[in-house]
Amino acid sequence: MLIMFKFEHIETVQWTKFLFIFVFSWILYVLARAIYNISLHPLNSYPGPIFARATPLPMVWHLLCRDQVDWLMKCHKTYGNVVRVAPGELSYITSEAWRDIYSQDSLSAGRKWEGLYRRDNPQFQSMQGADDQTHIELRRIFNPAFAEKNLRDQEPMFKRIANQAIDRIKRCQKESPTEGIDMTRFFLYVTCDIIGDFTLAQPFGMLESMQYLGWMSAQGDNLSATLFLSSSAYLTLLKPLASLFVWVFRENFNAPLLFATEQVKMRMKREAPGQGSDIWAWTFRENKFDRKLTPREMYTNAMLFFLAGTETSAASLTSLLWYLHINPTVSSTLTHEIRNAFTSLDEITLQRCSELPYMQACIEEVLRLDGPVKIGLPRVTPPKGMVIDGNFVPGETVVYVAMHSANLSARNFQHPEKFIPERWMSDDYASDKKGARQPFSLGARNCLGKSFAYHEMRLLIATLLFSFDIKVRKESEAWGMNVTPNILTEKRPLWVDFMARN
Ligand code: HEM
Repeated sequence: MLIMFKFEHIETVQWTKFLFIFVFSWILYVLARAIYNISLHPLNSYPGPIFARATPLPMVWHLLCRDQVDWLMKCHKTYGNVVRVAPGELSYITSEAWRDIYSQDSLSAGRKWEGLYRRDNPQFQSMQGADDQTHIELRRIFNPAFAEKNLRDQEPMFKRIANQAIDRIKRCQKESPTEGIDMTRFFLYVTCDIIGDFTLAQPFGMLESMQYLGWMSAQGDNLSATLFLSSSAYLTLLKPLASLFVWVFRENFNAPLLFATEQVKMRMKREAPGQGSDIWAWTFRENKFDRKLTPREMYTNAMLFFLAGTETSAASLTSLLWYLHINPTVSSTLTHEIRNAFTSLDEITLQRCSELPYMQACIEEVLRLDGPVKIGLPRVTPPKGMVIDGNFVPGETVVYVAMHSANLSARNFQHPEKFIPERWMSDDYASDKKGARQPFSLGARNCLGKSFAYHEMRLLIATLLFSFDIKVRKESEAWGMNVTPNILTEKRPLWVDFMARN
């Protein structure tokens, strides 16, 4: 009995000692690493908050609190055009950085950073997360479907859904005349129906049902999982927790891919791949290359079109309504331009919409002030390093342009917080550094749906403002005020009333 007690006692003492030595060595290691990061690290000449230069903890903290966008803005205000925001990471806000990081041939510039574009995240199993070579092949195959010629051929589809939106608004007014319409949801229904038609030759019917598709309600959990995964790239300690998180939410995480898989399979049963007018018809008819799409590539990229092509345009359109509401002069100039240009809904075509300069300027300005992509799109510099914005950056550094910080910086734009469409039209704003704002990114991996998005946004705004006078309701008067910019635009309801035009 006595002997056993002694044995246990010795074991406890030894374990405590071992734990103490382990914790002590770990603290020493972290301290030594932090001192190295500040003083001897190859990035030590770049400015930034001292804790962020020493450890990745501030970055992880802000990622998990979802206020990384706001933090980066504050960092750039204090430290200037380039900030070291983690030991191995530089954030920029200049047009020169856009050019150097993104606009070269993607094979010679840095690769996408796996910390964000992770293969265990279903979204990045598409062309967006593909390695550079596969990406080139996939872009070649999908490019024809997004080319101007095809988009013009899609005009009847765009117009049909825009007109359906008008009818739906009128029906809502009839059914519940005292209630407004939440445009955050409404625009999402419209853009989803358009993408449904474009990718599957049949809309999802969201305008009719005025309901989200099942998997869309789970996007909040998916964002949390994505942030956890990204954080674990900075802090190995978080890896098990991130894997657990992804496992717990696996159903939500995989839901968009499962949905896309089912939808594409059903589409292929309905019609032969090269038949019809949707994306597959174009992709299969126009593919002049030896390389064919695998079924898996069809599913993952259909999912990408659903994710990338709906919330982005919908959020920009909602935000535009808000900025028109708080800028009545801009609103009346835009309405005047549209109502002067057309005498009936039939006259509103993609081509004629692209000839309205004030509407284009309003869209450019909303993409600056409240663009749907606010983070930086991280790249890793090649092993031999590269010059960014006039300075050498060593190899394997994570670099990006922090999009929202660049768009709202007084270093780039006069009166950066104000909604001024004129800055995109008039010489008075010639000093604005417009190249610092690239809402669709640049280069080989920029937005494939850029022209699609412009056509869609122009047509919907022209159709709505031609048909109705629009007023934001009392309950949404504070919609865009004092909002901390988030990684994704938050889906706060924007309630509006539609009145037959004056
Ligand atoms: C206002 C609207 C939009 C904005 C601001 C926007 C912005 C962007 C940005 C910044 C990227 C680069 C992402 C990255 O590097 O990780 C991107 C990629 C992409 N976007 Fe858009 N987007 C919009 C609308 C659309 C639409 C309507 C579609 C499809 C119909 C679309 C399809 C895509 C695709 C397929 C990619 C991946 C391209 C590639 O990896 O080669 N986007 N978008």
